[in-house]
Parts: sequence; C-alpha cells; structure tokens
Amino acid sequence: MHEQSGGPDSYFKQLGGFDGRLKGIIQKLEAELAKPSRRNARQVDFLCTEIDRLTREYLLFLTAMNTARIAQEAAASTPDEAMDIKRAWGVVGARTNLFRLEINRWATIRGLVQEQRQTRRLPLYPPQAKLAKTTYTQMGASDDVFHWLHAMLNPSEQSDAARDHACFPDIALSNSEFHEHLHAAYRVILAQRRNEPVRFLDVGCGGGLKVLTAFRYFPETHGFDFDPAYVDAANHLLSKDDGLNCQVFEQDALTFEGYGNYDVIYFYRPISEETLLIEMEQAIATQARPGTVLVAPYVSFPARHEALGCGHIGGAVYVAGLSQKQANSLRIKAEKMGPYIVKPDDALLSSVWDPLLVVSRANGFDIPDRYKKPRY
Ligand SMILES: C[S@@+](CC[C@H](N)C(=O)[O-])C[C@H]1O[C@@H](n2cnc3c(N)ncnc32)[C@H](O)[C@@H]1O
Repeated sequence: MHEQSGGPDSYFKQLGGFDGRLKGIIQKLEAELAKPSRRNARQVDFLCTEIDRLTREYLLFLTAMNTARIAQEAAASTPDEAMDIKRAWGVVGARTNLFRLEINRWATIRGLVQEQRQTRRLPLYPPQAKLAKTTYTQMGASDDVFHWLHAMLNPSEQSDAARDHACFPDIALSNSEFHEHLHAAYRVILAQRRNEPVRFLDVGCGGGLKVLTAFRYFPETHGFDFDPAYVDAANHLLSKDDGLNCQVFEQDALTFEGYGNYDVIYFYRPISEETLLIEMEQAIATQARPGTVLVAPYVSFPARHEALGCGHIGGAVYVAGLSQKQANSLRIKAEKMGPYIVKPDDALLSSVWDPLLVVSRANGFDIPDRYKKPRY
C-alpha cells in the first residue's frame, strides 16, 4: 500500500527529484562564481530564478504530501493500521522537513550569490578620505590601546647583543595599518587561487602581537626574532590559547634559510643599518618562491623592490618573482575579490548550499550576518 501512487514512497521519490534538481542548479552556479572575471550575470540570474521556482514547487509539494498523509491516516480501519501508516509516513516526513530547512536558507544564499553576479573592482587600499571621521578617530584610539598592549606584552629592554647587531628594538607598526596591509595581502592570496594552507612569517616579530593578529587572516602564522627575551614574551603570549596555530622562534634574519617555506612574508624594517637591511631583503627575495606575497611597510623598500625582482601590487604589498606587468594584472584580479576576511565556519552539519559557500568564501564573500555588529 505504501508504494501506491500518493503513498509515502512516491513522495520520497519526488523528494529525491527536488534534491537532485537543486544540486544540479547549484553546480552550475558554483561554476559561474568560480570564474575569476567575466561572469555571466544573466546566467546567474537565470539559475537563481530556477531555484526560486523550485522552492515554490517544493512548498506546493509539501502541502500535497500533508493532504495525502492526513487522508490515508483518516482512512485507516483499525488502530494498528493507523499506527502502521503513521510509521510509514514518519521517515519521509522527517526527510522532507530537513529539506525544507535547507530551502529556508535560500533567501540568505541568494543574497550572497547576487553580490557576486558580476565581478566588480574594489580597491585594495580604499581612500582614507572616504572613512567617516568617527571611524577614523575610533581607529586611532584603538591603535593607541594596541601600542599600550604591545608595550605590556613585551616589557623587556633590548639586549646588548641585539643592539650591537644593528637590530631595531620592538617598535610596533600601528594595528590599523597592519590590518590594511594584511587585508590587501589576503585578497592577493585569494586571487592567486592557492590550494595549500597559507603560511605567514613576521621577520623580527618582537613580542608576537602581529603573529597573533595575522592568525585572523591565515591558518598558520610564524615569527622569529634575534632577541631571546622578545621570543620568550611572544611565546608566553601565544601559549595562552591552545587553538592557535602560531609559532615563534629565535633566529637571525640575516642567516635564516627558511624564507622559501612561506606564502606571506612581513618585514617592518627590523634592521637599522641600511647595508644589513639590504642584505636581509636580498636573502628574502632570493629564497622566496615566485608568487610569495611580501609586506614591507617602510620608506626605502619602494626604491629597491624592482632590482630584487619583485612586482609592486599597491601600498606596502609586493610579490616576489613578478614583473611589474604581471603584478598589475594580479592587482586587478585581487581587486575583484570581495571584502570579507573569512572566518572559519563552525557549522557541524553539511548543507546542500556548501558548494556555494565554499566558492563565495574563496572569492572573499560571505554571509554578512556572520560579521555584523549588533546594534542597540
Ligand atoms: C620594528 S620592530 C617590528 C616588530 C613587529 N614585527 C611589528 O611589526 O610590530 C623590529 C623587530 O625586529 C627584530 N630584529 C631586528 N633585527 C633582527 C634580525 N637580524 N633578526 C631577527 N630579528 C631582528 C627586533 O628585535 C625587533 O623586535
């Protein structure tokens, strides 16, 4: 009886049809969003409309199914038969409800897809004049607090050995400027469409606050410093949370042989002596793999990057082993990446929308609600 047309099995089959159809459309949308440029906006709109249609049909299907279930239960001639019918409908009822929960998320996913229907360029360094004055002053206040924190976390005096080695003491780049450069570097990394987890290095990391900050952007962050007391302070900070994939070690930037193991290398003028600083830049540029993103926020680097074989992307961001022409075209691709610094998703269950979430996050887009501050 359950296999008859209008019985639970037939609805189960129809549910499979909806699921298969939806997955097919999602696959096509995913392919469109995976294009780094020249997305077919009309195709995106058409596929979104197909999903709209499917969701409407699904709601009608649910109503029809409930009517059929109620009629069958009412027609039962004995309590045992009624129990059998309820049991038979139970499984399909649970599955259709689960699918309905997925369908309910379409409005949110639709917004995410529509944001990417065309690839638009968003500058890596938006003009500061565009910031609201209130935001600007809040950033300044936050920077001051980070400078205090920086000093509290690493109260040690510079060692004599470090001073004799022409090391600068642990002077922090401001927090907001660091985020500006890292965000630009992050979007370059997205534009490069890398497959392996990205590794970040802070050359001369002092008390380690930048190594920690960079962990918000990249899955593995390292730092090293010449000064052992600074390294101790950094390790003390990073040991406070088991979930960090951050490491700090003692090392001399001039003799380090591991620059080739990183994808993003940040160096904020660690060395005071110009000739030694140039030696360090040469070691980094020689060892870094082509495509490695370099973040060098200090005044003398712009005059030297070209001779080191690095292309300038913008601001303090450069890429090793690229001509300026290649760097310009990479910058355009990076500008087409979205503005989100994607946070790990702790959703436990997989969802039919996962392919669209994954491709969107790889484009620098995400569901805005995951980032919005509450308003009171
Ligand atoms: C200007 S501070 C930068 C601190 C941190 N990276 C930041 O951006 O806030 C320079 C740091 O580089 C370290 N340093 C200087 N010369 C170094 C060298 N040859 N090898 C490793 N670290 C060095 C100093 O000890 C100091 O902590």
